[in-house]
Amino acid sequence: MKPDLLIMDSILDILPSGMIFMEADGSILKINQKARDTLGLSPSVQASDLNQKMPDYLIPLVKLIEQATQDIQRAEISLTLPARPEESTLGFSLKFLHSDDTQAPLKIFTFSDITQVQKDQLAMEKIKDELNQSKKLASIGTMIAGVAHEMNNPLTGISMSTSLLKMNLERLKTLPQVQEHPKVSDSIEKGLLEIQKIARASEKAAVLVNDLLAYSKPTQLVLVALPLQAVVSDIVNALKSHPHFSQFGIEIQGQTPHMVRCDRIKLEQVFYNLVKNACDATDGKGQVTIFFSEAKDPKDGSLQVTTHVKDNGPGIDKTVMNQIFDPFFTTKGHSGVGLGLSICYRTMEQHGGLLSVDSVKWQGTEFKITLPVCVEPVYLN
Ligand SMILES: Nc1ncnc2c1ncn2[C@@H]1O[C@H](COP(=O)(O)OP(=O)(O)OP(=O)(O)O)[C@@H](O)[C@H]1O
Ligand SMILES: [Mg+2]
Repeated sequence: MKPDLLIMDSILDILPSGMIFMEADGSILKINQKARDTLGLSPSVQASDLNQKMPDYLIPLVKLIEQATQDIQRAEISLTLPARPEESTLGFSLKFLHSDDTQAPLKIFTFSDITQVQKDQLAMEKIKDELNQSKKLASIGTMIAGVAHEMNNPLTGISMSTSLLKMNLERLKTLPQVQEHPKVSDSIEKGLLEIQKIARASEKAAVLVNDLLAYSKPTQLVLVALPLQAVVSDIVNALKSHPHFSQFGIEIQGQTPHMVRCDRIKLEQVFYNLVKNACDATDGKGQVTIFFSEAKDPKDGSLQVTTHVKDNGPGIDKTVMNQIFDPFFTTKGHSGVGLGLSICYRTMEQHGGLLSVDSVKWQGTEFKITLPVCVEPVYLN
């Protein structure tokens, strides 16, 4: 090999990006060391070896270079590389090098493996979304607490005044002077009926205000270290006997050995809300499958256990996906308040865990309840 070509090869081999040079007839002219490393080729493989026998997994890449008719600034290609469990993504650019008018141009394909970068980006996006959701819920919670508190005073006033009015009218009704005039006692009767309606409406409003206060000022959790498997089994048994789910299937698949620190009653409420939503989504006749998985927390490497609650319902539309955890978001008209998932989200946050969702329209919905695994010794009595 000529000395200047040797120098060029050495320069190409120390470059941090993979490079493949292809001639107009589709044959490979050069491949540098980084390209061999990234593509899982042995360091001794030369361009001529590839021209003789191209490994099957590289054919989509070679075809892409061969079929390109103009420069490509920035693009990606997915490849299944040897000894990699998942597909890898290569970020690349392609340049046509025209040396002079008579010669056909040379194609220079420059690339790097961006699989991990993409994964990190996705993880960052997820963390950002979770943070935004927490912030949003916290500020909505503060607003709700204020409104609910302010509503309590007039409601108390309405309820006291209606009681007083009712007492007075009932007394009036019994007076002989009133009983002598059927028209007057009739009007009093009608008045009493209206008062009853006001009382019922204000009672309803008081219940809602209480719910709102419970949402905005969550009660203190009673955290106990418990085996997750047993907790979930107990909850599922309780749900199975609930009249609401008489035609609905709930099944646990697999097991988990982990202990978690949780408030059993609150966790039961979370499961109730999730199963009720799945039941609503399938007109009461669907099926929920519950299973477990474990993973390391991307933030600090600690172990987490996730309980998956997967239904066979119609899924959630992409367009409303980022609203479902918001308080008062409902697609159920008057039959839903839209507080279920936001309360569940808050409860899981209080546990130091997370509630997340995966759903594809028409392919069911999977809610994931993630909790830190309890690692310190637990003494059960
Ligand atoms: N398993 C599911 N399948 C399909 N859509 C769901 C599912 N779970 C939740 N959703 C959607 O998320 C919305 C919000 O749920 P959320 O539990 O907060 O309120 P809701 O069920 O509408 O009312 P509430 O729970 O207060 O009675 C639902 O209205 C529904 O559109
Ligand atoms: Mg609900």
